[in-house]
Amino acid sequence: MIAGPQIGRVFTFDQHETFMIGRSEDSQFCLPHDRFFSRHHCLLEIAPPQCFLRDLGSTNGTFVNGLKAETAHLKNGDRIQGGETVLEVEVSTADTNQDYSQDPQKSSDTTPSLITILCLNCGLPSKAEVSRPDAKLTFLCDNCREQLKKNPQPIPNYQMIKMLGQGGMGSVMLARSISDGSAVAIKTLLPEVAVSDQSLKRFMREIEVAASLKHPHIVSYIEHGTHNGIVYLVTEYVSGMDASKLSKMRGGKLSYQEVVKIIEQTLAALDFAHSLGFVHRDIKEQNILVDGKFPNYNSKLTDFGLAKSFKQTGMSGVTMVGDVAGTIAYMPPEQVRDFKEVRPPSDIYGVGMTAYSLLTGAHALDISPSAGISETVKAIFEKPIVPINRRVPEIPLRVAAVIETALAKEVELRWHSAREMREELLRAATLFL
Ligand SMILES: Nc1ncnc2c1ncn2[C@@H]1O[C@H](COP(=O)(O)OP(=O)(O)OP(=O)(O)O)[C@@H](O)[C@H]1O
Ligand SMILES: [Mg+2]
Repeated sequence: MIAGPQIGRVFTFDQHETFMIGRSEDSQFCLPHDRFFSRHHCLLEIAPPQCFLRDLGSTNGTFVNGLKAETAHLKNGDRIQGGETVLEVEVSTADTNQDYSQDPQKSSDTTPSLITILCLNCGLPSKAEVSRPDAKLTFLCDNCREQLKKNPQPIPNYQMIKMLGQGGMGSVMLARSISDGSAVAIKTLLPEVAVSDQSLKRFMREIEVAASLKHPHIVSYIEHGTHNGIVYLVTEYVSGMDASKLSKMRGGKLSYQEVVKIIEQTLAALDFAHSLGFVHRDIKEQNILVDGKFPNYNSKLTDFGLAKSFKQTGMSGVTMVGDVAGTIAYMPPEQVRDFKEVRPPSDIYGVGMTAYSLLTGAHALDISPSAGISETVKAIFEKPIVPINRRVPEIPLRVAAVIETALAKEVELRWHSAREMREELLRAATLFL
């Protein structure tokens, strides 16, 4: 902070994080005495060495180096101004692998380098910003990333059958194991920025940890590896479809009895995972795979902790750059504010958002499907949810209330655990059978 009421304050970020600036108390950098600031003024997303700023439709604007900006990629030395407050950005690449304690002079940080790097797939050169140019890097150019998403490369020991879907991190294929003929799903994960071997290894280690989760309502892990620099993850194949496709097929929403069945199983999976210290972080309809016919649905939660590991190990770069609000639509306020700090209540909120959408075919906050990121972020903090019964009057009030409690903006007002929410949901639903 180089000017304003909080001059001299320093904030340091060394991994993928978000940082909210505003007058409101729920901002990490709270400026209650700078009257030119809006309550939620702007949001920084830091994915070292990248740093991205987004103004949240503030009344008086956010300025970067004196020019009003809605979004900006920040560089070392840039100045962000809002009201009387000025922040200076410093981007440095301290080498954490070396011990400089004997010679502190040597530890002088350097700014990130823009290097020319060859695409692993096509071999053509591109420019990329990296923290450590000396590290061994894996990089895919934009073209190849798109191509590989549409046509994933074969993985040794598996015969690829067909594409099941594409998501933010890569794509999912149905395949057959050559050794035992079993059907499996293979997810290929394509890094979006140049990543070091060290980051790839960390990511693989994190996948391994999440792989230990064994539960009837969690998609089971089979194996993972890298092939031509691309990370792949092999899991059990779930026939049927994800809950989003299921509801689309039925004209956009499901009956409350069906939703209770699916959500009750998801909550059982979360109760189990939370008790072991795992948080999913990306609960949404697409990550709940539903097999069988109602009332014998068997649903399974997939991608446990994957989005978090993908971001935290530096595979994603900044994610809120485009104006696609999909990635944050189900994020609770505490996660938007600081997505490093995510605990089980964030999953409860995600379950609430998912159940709401399955029940009503609409988003819980009153925002249009084409809303941009800044509008979505503001709604997450400031807009109350639309009561479920206003959208679908037939849903029993008690059932609606259980879902709405999960969507409280304050963590303390939500259900305290997945178990508690599951019990209340089942109790509310059986009252009407
Ligand atoms: N194990 C599986 N069995 C059957 N189908 C699957 C399996 N895993 C994923 N799918 C299908 O593939 C689709 C794409 O999955 P993917 O995880 O890549 O995207 P997503 O869930 O929409 O987004 P994200 O990348 O944020 O997770 C899913 O929506 C689902 O329909
Ligand atoms: Mg998924």
